[in-house]
Amino acid sequence: MNRREFLRTAGGATAVAGAVSASGSAAAQQTKEVVVGPGGSLVFDPETVYVKPGDTVKFVWESDGHNIVVESQPDGANWKGTKGGASKLYDTGYEYTHTFETKGKYQYFCAPHKTAGMVGTVVVNESGTAPSSGGGGEVNPEHMGVPIQAHFVGIATILAILVSLMFTFFMLKYGESPHASGGNG
Ligand code: CU
Repeated sequence: MNRREFLRTAGGATAVAGAVSASGSAAAQQTKEVVVGPGGSLVFDPETVYVKPGDTVKFVWESDGHNIVVESQPDGANWKGTKGGASKLYDTGYEYTHTFETKGKYQYFCAPHKTAGMVGTVVVNESGTAPSSGGGGEVNPEHMGVPIQAHFVGIATILAILVSLMFTFFMLKYGESPHASGGNG
């Protein structure tokens, strides 16, 4: 019960914070940076970036011969990746930006290095943060907390009934006999 109250409070605080940042129009839209091939390594850094609807992701090339090809995206989204498709590559210093409006998960890769694991994900959600990171995850724990608590109450009730039944049974069967024989003898 304390846990639910805490979670509800945390959720409320997040909602208030969201309302505050939404009202400050200039600060609402953010740009997050993803480094393409940092130090020549075949990765996007960070591999997964979280943004809010309307936020921009700026991809900055730090080594040569990479591109961005969109593998999958939410219905209604129209992200094209870097111009020229899979065969066109870009070199150090190139910058590419895209503004994400549709909520959901966007998966992309670098065409020449996909097999080497050069893949990335953009997640667009209301908070613009990873859902598993403590305070941001106000939805899942609350949904999980209730059924766990319900199960616990149910199991405890059944156990209590069983224990009292067994206690009664043993008291009736054995409980009195020592006293009875002691009293009679
Ligand atoms: Cu690459």
